[in-house]
Amino acid sequence: MNSEVAIDQLVAEMGELIASITLAETENTIVPRFNQSKTVAYVNAEFRVHDDIPEELKQGIFSRPISYPAKLRFANATKRDDSKKDIRGLSIRLSNVDGTVLWGNPGFQDFVLNSHPALFVATPEDFLAFIRAQQQGKIKMLLFFLNPFNPHLKALFTVLKSQKNHLSPFDVRYWSTVPFRLGELGNQVVKYSVLPCSDYETTDTVNGGEHQLRAAIKAHLQQSPACFHFAVQKQTDPKSMPIEDASVIWDEEVSPFIPVATIKIADQDINNPEILANGERCSFNPWQCLAAHEPLGRMNLVRRLVYAKAAELRNKE
Ligand code: HEM
Repeated sequence: MNSEVAIDQLVAEMGELIASITLAETENTIVPRFNQSKTVAYVNAEFRVHDDIPEELKQGIFSRPISYPAKLRFANATKRDDSKKDIRGLSIRLSNVDGTVLWGNPGFQDFVLNSHPALFVATPEDFLAFIRAQQQGKIKMLLFFLNPFNPHLKALFTVLKSQKNHLSPFDVRYWSTVPFRLGELGNQVVKYSVLPCSDYETTDTVNGGEHQLRAAIKAHLQQSPACFHFAVQKQTDPKSMPIEDASVIWDEEVSPFIPVATIKIADQDINNPEILANGERCSFNPWQCLAAHEPLGRMNLVRRLVYAKAAELRNKE
């Protein structure tokens, strides 16, 4: 593992590398996201907090049973063609949220998740080393994983394992992978997961060419609304459930995820070009949140300004 680098330095270097990578991938003046770049769908939803959640979890947006209007962005990490193996992303923005936000615009709470329970690297230093290698081309990237003096074999294993073919983003489970505080007072630390709970499941490939996942979403909504549970997992042991190692999966047998809200998505215009363009333009940030949901750990510290800079670059006129 590399020695610790100051957060400011990590942000500056990652910001520059990410700008150079995404600018090089610009097509028709659209600068893509560095990660989760294909918008599969950008939908309206309802996020309803349950009325029977355990007392200690009634914090921040979960403090009372209430419905928030939500926007959900379903994405592919690296592939434009939905039929290819990939990691899928789910970004959620709640609106009408009461309370002071840590960063961003008042009234909003974001959650940023993807379809594998752990990140492929442990620390932001390793993430930076990976981005550096990515910018230098395929051979350097291979060397990042297989360098005999400093191999990242666990990272390679995670990357290979986390890329999958999926039939529908509505049947995928998503994880925050990194931890968050729960409540402004006390020391509760949690990870988030979003679990499918629809009555309907996609059992076969839906015809839609490179947009087959978008087609699957449409076909699902024409049958019945989509449903997800939003759940939190408490850190019960700081050693086996570390804050500072994003590559560790917290054991669900030791601490199961507890559902605290339900997300419902009704049928809507999935293929509308203007809505899809908004899905391209919009941006999410784990720091767009209440203090009761503060992102924890150095990986999250780095994300605040790196995401903000990347979004700014994408939306420059
Ligand atoms: C130091 C660690 C990380 C860095 C530097 C990083 C970097 C980025 C950047 C630059 C973007 C594009 C932001 C934009 O253009 O608006 C992005 C998007 C995204 N990242 Fe990360 N990321 C990190 C960790 C994570 C983790 C732990 C997750 C786990 C869930 C994650 C999931 C996502 C998702 C789902 C998006 C798409 C957000 C959207 O819909 O706008 N990232 N990431």
